[in-house]
Amino acid sequence: MSSGNHVLTAVAWPYANGPRHIGHVAGFGVPSDVFSRYQRMAGNKVLMVSGTDEHGTPIQVQAEKEGLTARELADRYNKVIATDLQKLGLSYDLFTRTTTKNHYAVVQQLFLTLLDNGYIFPRTELGAISPSTGRTLPDRYIEGTCPICGYPAARGDQCDNCGNQLDPIDLINPRSRINGETPKFVETEQYFLDLPAFTEVLGDWLAKQSHWRPNVQKFSMNLLADLKPRAITRDLDWGVPVPLEGWRDRNDKKIYVWFDAVIGYLSASIEWAARTGDPDAWRPFWQPAEDGTKPRGYYFMGKDNIVFHAEIWPAMLFGYSGLGAKGGKPGELGALERPFEVVSSEFLTMEGRKFSSSRNVVIYVGDMLSRYDADALRYYLVSAGPENQDTDFTWSEFVRRNNDELVAGWGNLVNRTISMTAKNLGAIPAAGELAEIDRNLLAASRAAFDSIGALIERNRQKAAIGEVMKLVGEANKYLSDTAPWKLKNEDPARMASVLHTTLQVVDDVKTLITPFLPGSADKVHKAMGGKAIWSAMPELVEVDEPTAVGSPSYSVLTGDYQTQAKWASTPIEVGTPLAAPTPVFTKLDTSVVDEELARLESAER
Ligand code: MF3
Ligand code: ZN
Repeated sequence: MSSGNHVLTAVAWPYANGPRHIGHVAGFGVPSDVFSRYQRMAGNKVLMVSGTDEHGTPIQVQAEKEGLTARELADRYNKVIATDLQKLGLSYDLFTRTTTKNHYAVVQQLFLTLLDNGYIFPRTELGAISPSTGRTLPDRYIEGTCPICGYPAARGDQCDNCGNQLDPIDLINPRSRINGETPKFVETEQYFLDLPAFTEVLGDWLAKQSHWRPNVQKFSMNLLADLKPRAITRDLDWGVPVPLEGWRDRNDKKIYVWFDAVIGYLSASIEWAARTGDPDAWRPFWQPAEDGTKPRGYYFMGKDNIVFHAEIWPAMLFGYSGLGAKGGKPGELGALERPFEVVSSEFLTMEGRKFSSSRNVVIYVGDMLSRYDADALRYYLVSAGPENQDTDFTWSEFVRRNNDELVAGWGNLVNRTISMTAKNLGAIPAAGELAEIDRNLLAASRAAFDSIGALIERNRQKAAIGEVMKLVGEANKYLSDTAPWKLKNEDPARMASVLHTTLQVVDDVKTLITPFLPGSADKVHKAMGGKAIWSAMPELVEVDEPTAVGSPSYSVLTGDYQTQAKWASTPIEVGTPLAAPTPVFTKLDTSVVDEELARLESAER
């Protein structure tokens, strides 16, 4: 991509119904941050947004369990989640919430425009209620046999086996996941999004997305065969009010959580712009520039979210822009771009099992980061995570990768190069005449910027970090081959050339590894004599609504990520004083494996 383009990094919004586990951040979190940090270093303008997803039944059910109101529960976990994501170093320009006034206003505006354009209509349908309580039983709390593939544990909203969206009424043998009773279906009026009106535009659009991961494109195309109108209101008392006469003040009808959540990408962009003092600053990330250049929106998520991002959200954006089968006019904000790429990852399991918060078979991000470095987790998730296929987290592999690859590979290269220079020379030496072995290593290091940049650009992060670590291996081999520690008396000039060469490669790797391991890259930068911040980190700040001062304040993640870090090899500065560094990574005792396995076992219920 040429320099200076607008890149929207749209990160799936975690539910605020509990702390997030490492499987969650393997899907939406770390990959979106690697991508954003790289794009900023490459000179593009990045807007990275997300927030907590705070409506819907998952929140209500958990609130009941904890004896809180839905809002109290959302307040609690918004803070927990934002704090965890901050500790993980995820560089959100804005991580907000779906319960802001701004979000409500944007959601209602989209709803009304879609209604005006004819893509939303009311209809009476059969809705499920619990016979014992008389309350609505939401889709995903109904379980039964999938009418499409026969999977016996399909949910009312979606089948996790075949990925199809479902209606609870279509399930065979439906039962409540809350108490096992058979739901009763009663007539109820809802608004529907007319998905079939987008079959053609979605089909044309999806067919062109050959830059997506093949399985994501194929999965999305397959969904088109069976598009049905989808209810976008629910019989609930927790959600965005339906902005219509006779509905606005009702306590038993709200907008469906998924309809509101995907709009978060837009409302958060608008909120971010308001906070910068330029209310139109969101536009270049959503609308073409005057010369026609389109911004690129990259959406990061786990595979269970594909439907909503490759079908429903694009349909909503087409409809809002007046581009479905029924035509229409763009809404007040103007026509909006569809995603450039839906970057979906597969699932992470743990020690061969599915994560389960209810059974406590889980590793929470906060717990993990209280015991291990953020970069150790980030490294594991990028190098061994579920980018293209389901993968398994094991403690033994976590410890092995940390010790063999981070500590003994990269950390050792940094440590011995800088220590040796500090001890023998005290500062970065000038190089004399370079030998072929020096020139080869330097050339490989310089060339890595293009090849690794191209891999990150295409979200092939596993291959990208592999290339970085290959370069680390080459540099370590170079040190063994040239053995500068033997040259001190024999040939000090040669020693200086070798150390200069290695220091330059250490500095290059520091840059190349920054998107993946920003915290430790910053330490390496300082160990190399750098003074300014190299990798900016997100901050948690308490804010007011930008447009509704006086309403309750809330916390958001934000940051100033303008940085000197550029995606290029920068010549190291001869004469910079160097001191022996403190180790950048922490070696883990192998007893950690047994301790953690025991911890898991005792926590299970
Ligand atoms: N809360 C959803 C989940 O955790 C993701 C919502 S993504 C959004 O699966 F875009 F809709 F917000
Ligand atoms: Zn199925």
